[in-house]
Amino acid sequence: MGPDAAGPGARTQRVAVLKGGRSLERQVSLRSGARVEDALTRLGHYVVPIDVGLDLIRQLREVRPDVAFIAMHGRDGEDGTVQELLEIADVPYTGSGVLACVRSMDKVLAKHLMLEAGIPTPEFFAFNETAFRELGAADALGAIEQRLDFPIVVKPSSQGSALGIKFARSAADVPAALVAAFSYDSKVLLERYVDGRDLAVSILDGEPLPVVEAVPQGGDEFYDFQARYEIGRTSFVCPAELPDGVTERAQELALQTYRLLGCDAFARVDLMLDPSGELAVLEANPIPGLTETSLLPQAAEAAGISFDQLVGRILALAKARVPAT
Ligand SMILES: Nc1ncnc2c1ncn2[C@@H]1O[C@H](COP(=O)(O)OP(=O)(O)O)[C@@H](O)[C@H]1O
Ligand SMILES: [Mg+2]
Repeated sequence: MGPDAAGPGARTQRVAVLKGGRSLERQVSLRSGARVEDALTRLGHYVVPIDVGLDLIRQLREVRPDVAFIAMHGRDGEDGTVQELLEIADVPYTGSGVLACVRSMDKVLAKHLMLEAGIPTPEFFAFNETAFRELGAADALGAIEQRLDFPIVVKPSSQGSALGIKFARSAADVPAALVAAFSYDSKVLLERYVDGRDLAVSILDGEPLPVVEAVPQGGDEFYDFQARYEIGRTSFVCPAELPDGVTERAQELALQTYRLLGCDAFARVDLMLDPSGELAVLEANPIPGLTETSLLPQAAEAAGISFDQLVGRILALAKARVPAT
């Protein structure tokens, strides 16, 4: 491919694609990474894939990339850890900076910030393990259950891909749901269940893309929704067919959340729409999936932005960050 393949005005860059890692979303990340590598190669860049592990810093020193494209999800890649290391190694990188990652990956922190900013998010109570082990938090469960009403959503504070999330239909389900959530994170939240439609709004360079709706297939097995994430159990509609004004409101809330958390270049915000037309923000993902079936690429496509163009724009927005002093 010629030197101009990276697009008008773009120069060929040496790009390290960071993928894999130790997160539970490793497999998704490997697929996101592979697809990004293909796109970058088509754009005329020189691509060096790095499966992130113990030798990350050594590899970066050897490869000496102009820029790192982070295609990692969940722990390490999306929580600010890898971003921090790239800053120390003086390598510019794609997407959000350390602080936005820290804020977004911690659902409890993000939800407190949303409450403070007046962004609607389902009511919740959060605990860490010590609250249960040393402060008798179990004795407060009855009051929480009364306040939130069943079903209650129990989730680990920092995870993705619906891992560790359970719907407790009665008080009897709560202890097992908590144990499951604590197996993923030392902080969990109990959240009010929103009986509604599952929406996602991706933001690219400060502009909201068309809304995607995830429609579960095969009955209302709401308690078994982890299955929805298995191939074929969910279909995606983009642009989502929504009542008047809801699309604009969802996009506005997503953008407010993106700005509130300090996200940069791109992110995806997950929301619920209840039957009365009220929207609530569940969470923000600073590095959403970039696979063939992922929502951000689908939303970009619906906006007339091809995957290669999407990757090119994310790369062009990569920044060198000055480490905190
Ligand atoms: N409070 C809630 N009410 C109804 N459904 C929920 C609620 N919280 C989560 N869900 C369902 O679980 C999915 C994943 O939850 P989310 O908070 O986005 O966590 P993550 O995507 O990081 O695993 C949502 O897309 C939605 O389908
Ligand atoms: Mg989500």
